[in-house]
Amino acid sequence: MGVVTRVNGPLVQVSGLSEAAMYDLVDLGPDRIPGEIVGIRRDGATVQAYEYTGGLAPGQPAAALGVPLSARLGPHLLGGVFDGLLRPLTGAATWLGPRSVNVAGDQEWRFTPLAAEGDHTEPGTPVGRLDDAGALPYLLLSPGGQVTAVRAEGRLPIGAAVATVGGDQVGVTTSWPVRRPRPFGDRLGETVPLITGQRVVDLLLPVARGGTAAVPGGFGTGKTVLLQQIAKWCDADVVVYVGCGERGNEMADVVQELSELTDPRTGGPLARRTVVIANTSNMPMMAREASIYTGVTVAEHFRDMGYHAVVIADSTSRWAEARREFASRSGALPAEEGYPADLASALAAFYERAGLVRALGGAAGSVTIIGAVSPPGGDLTEPVTTLTQRFARSLWSLDRDLAYARHYPAVSWTESFARDGDALAAWHVRDGRAAWATQRARTASLLAEADRIAALAEIVGTGALPAHERVVLLGGRLIREGLLRQSALSPADAFSAPDRTTALSGAVLDVIDHCLDLAAGGTPITAIEEHDYSPLLRAREQPAARVPGLRDQVLAALR
Ligand SMILES: Nc1ncnc2c1ncn2[C@@H]1O[C@H](COP(=O)(O)OP(=O)(O)OP(=O)(O)O)[C@@H](O)[C@H]1O
Ligand SMILES: [Mg+2]
Repeated sequence: MGVVTRVNGPLVQVSGLSEAAMYDLVDLGPDRIPGEIVGIRRDGATVQAYEYTGGLAPGQPAAALGVPLSARLGPHLLGGVFDGLLRPLTGAATWLGPRSVNVAGDQEWRFTPLAAEGDHTEPGTPVGRLDDAGALPYLLLSPGGQVTAVRAEGRLPIGAAVATVGGDQVGVTTSWPVRRPRPFGDRLGETVPLITGQRVVDLLLPVARGGTAAVPGGFGTGKTVLLQQIAKWCDADVVVYVGCGERGNEMADVVQELSELTDPRTGGPLARRTVVIANTSNMPMMAREASIYTGVTVAEHFRDMGYHAVVIADSTSRWAEARREFASRSGALPAEEGYPADLASALAAFYERAGLVRALGGAAGSVTIIGAVSPPGGDLTEPVTTLTQRFARSLWSLDRDLAYARHYPAVSWTESFARDGDALAAWHVRDGRAAWATQRARTASLLAEADRIAALAEIVGTGALPAHERVVLLGGRLIREGLLRQSALSPADAFSAPDRTTALSGAVLDVIDHCLDLAAGGTPITAIEEHDYSPLLRAREQPAARVPGLRDQVLAALR
């Protein structure tokens, strides 16, 4: 048994923990506040406490538990709301508003065995399945070895054991140290998009399944709305939404909306494919530090069952600030802007846990990581933003001017990138959208050309530009207004499936091409602007009758 010797915010010194090892979990004081050993000297250990340390005092007991900080993984996660250490937030129902927050006390699942007594099982292969209406099948994976006992089909509660394999019990829940990546077979070479339903992302700046994306943006530029749209609409099997140091009411909204929307795959509420980890700004700061790792661990766990999981973290800057806070209290030598020197390696290690892999059991699964970055004062040269840009394969940089003009999502097409963009466009072409790659290339080059001409027009005046240049300006506006702009609040347009996106970009490009032809034929610009494009668009709408509102959307952008 150890003794608390000093308390400084979340930093607690403990002596007498002779057996303890780095990263071991420690119970502090009579209230058993959880903490983690982050430093050891001969005369004592430094503990990072995950809860408010008010009331904790020197002389109080401290006990090392001999295990690292671990998450309890199980079927109860789907549809639940948890804190940064993955404990059910029993109070969530009150602070998130009245709704069914499933905290898995009395829940039961229907169990179906997938292995028989005497079977030899490889690690990671399923020994059984749990079903619950409205959620994906939950697979119970083997640690590897001979099955000596397995439960019969039937209902069972969360604490139950389902099988004995290689002398080990397989339970409904298992535990995993959150800072250690879960093992997998190997990384897969294919490049498959994660469909987000956001046109600017899917068409211009896509992210791959198993990829990483970062969303830097100043105050109020739309980071949270964009991430919530992706949480709602992306084509993942499981979404882990980590609210890290952000506003509690936003978490309440997202949970509410998810429980009202239907998951097309299961027919259940979308909330049942979602795991919410809430460490809002009013909750203890240090649990934010853990919540990022907890979130990735949950996603890896579902990946291992052969699912595609997405981790959405809002915001990784708050996580970095928690690390900075702790480092400064522990007297670590600060590096850039006070952040600890290991910020780069910590961020790299976090994004490194994304990937499309062959799981140990043989199934393909993925973890995609999408993180918001909130640079103080919108300064994109600060350390968290610049480091994140190095590790993310897609960057959706939010532009203050676009947000100010209420052009949402305010993703800048000049400051953003998608390193897998070409490979992902090729996937769409193979998937039957033949024009996708050319539409993407033309859209991007027209936007760039329009930006260049707009800069010129600011000097010489629009009136001095030749007709072709003025049509490109018009085309740029058409792409921005008719294609890239997409309101999260519009029920018909909040989600744009790839077929809708390609139909819309085809229509917009048709109109632009027609305008360019008119200009080349000598038609004056005013006549081009006032030309009636509806017959052209009507022809476009014929094969794609499933794209309602296409014509209106393009015509509205022309006005
Ligand atoms: N895609 C969108 N469609 C419609 N409105 C949007 C969209 N994105 C942002 N907005 C508007 O912008 C407001 C601010 O967005 P949001 O809260 O997502 O910004 P933020 O970058 O997360 O801000 P903060 O820095 O405070 O976290 C929203 O309340 C909404 O009115
Ligand atoms: Mg926000």
